[in-house]
Amino acid sequence: MLPRPLFGYIAGASETGASLRENATSFKRHAFRPRVLTNVSKRSQRTRLLGRDYDAPFGIAPMGISALMAYRGDLVLAEAAEAAGIPMIMSGSSLIPLEEVAAAAPSAWFQAYLPGEPDRIDALVDRVAVAGFETLVLTVDTATLANRENNVRAGFSTPLRPSLALAWQGVSHPRWTALTFLRTIARHGVPHFENSYATRGAPILARSVMRDFGKRDHLDWRHLEQIRRRWPGKLVVKGIISAEDAVAAVERGVDGIVVSNHGGRQLDGTMAPLDALPAVADAVSGHAAVMIDGGVRRGSDVLKALALGADFVFVGRPFLYAAAAFGRAGADRAGAILKEEIHRNMALLGINSVGELDATALTRSRLPR
Ligand code: FNR
Repeated sequence: MLPRPLFGYIAGASETGASLRENATSFKRHAFRPRVLTNVSKRSQRTRLLGRDYDAPFGIAPMGISALMAYRGDLVLAEAAEAAGIPMIMSGSSLIPLEEVAAAAPSAWFQAYLPGEPDRIDALVDRVAVAGFETLVLTVDTATLANRENNVRAGFSTPLRPSLALAWQGVSHPRWTALTFLRTIARHGVPHFENSYATRGAPILARSVMRDFGKRDHLDWRHLEQIRRRWPGKLVVKGIISAEDAVAAVERGVDGIVVSNHGGRQLDGTMAPLDALPAVADAVSGHAAVMIDGGVRRGSDVLKALALGADFVFVGRPFLYAAAAFGRAGADRAGAILKEEIHRNMALLGINSVGELDATALTRSRLPR
């Protein structure tokens, strides 16, 4: 349903795609050891995270420029999450102003890429707080732009460059052109798509965000300390793989960590977050919430991550595909499918609450992949 460059932007990763594949494979290396006759009639997947109760142990990971994939995509995902009682993390590379999402979905979290200049950090943090977000997620695995060769091959760039090939993609995907692209232009005008924290954006993606990338390699732990001093709410760091970094973040007062390799979209060849999880959980569980994303495609994957020490799980691409294909109904359905799978598999595993899961529920898999 999506033009090839856009589909490629979601589905793709960096360089050879090794980490993207590894993320999925890592789940298949674990097999369940179910327990039986445990009376599983009182099953609940409600999960407490960072002082809030959620209806399921998963949420929606931040995904940039979602509004180019589904009409007002960030709002669609945020509202679907609100209705499902799960958290949605709004991307800092969104095309919709953060205030609008905060108003429509008060339980959404906000993800920021840190500006390269420290004096802009305070202004960003203050704006996110004023908008009403309670939880700020800092993505830290992006010291520079990744080598996303697939975008070059698929013809994706930011801003999108007009070309005959792109025009053909528009013509040959009339549903997307009419329902997402032209509707967006009708509402927001072109070329001024807004960026969530730029006031006036450049075409498709604010240039300021891209310029920031050039300076982001200066960021270090002192910038995290600066934010911790300024940000009154819950602070989460996303993109941690090593236990050493998890400890360093917790020592600086973060409330949670997302073990993540950015869905395989940053350093290709990075280990799968699921494989990194046990050491991180060992190091910081009890001191900070341990979350994970990358490669989660089914309820059984959510349960495996929880068994290996995660307190909560985030899911990216599946929700964006669902919203791109069927809008709000698609996003609702994606959440419902995961909930149904978790509910059923909790019974088959022999548990009534996700808190009962630990490493004894798993063993090394010899199942064919
Ligand atoms: C992302 N991801 C991401 N992460 C982030 O911190 N800020 C962002 O703006 C984005 N943008 C983004 C766009 C798209 C299209 C994708 C697919 C991913 C990474 C995302 O939050 C998450 O880490 C991974 O997507 C999780 O892996 P799965 O569930 O997609 O396998």
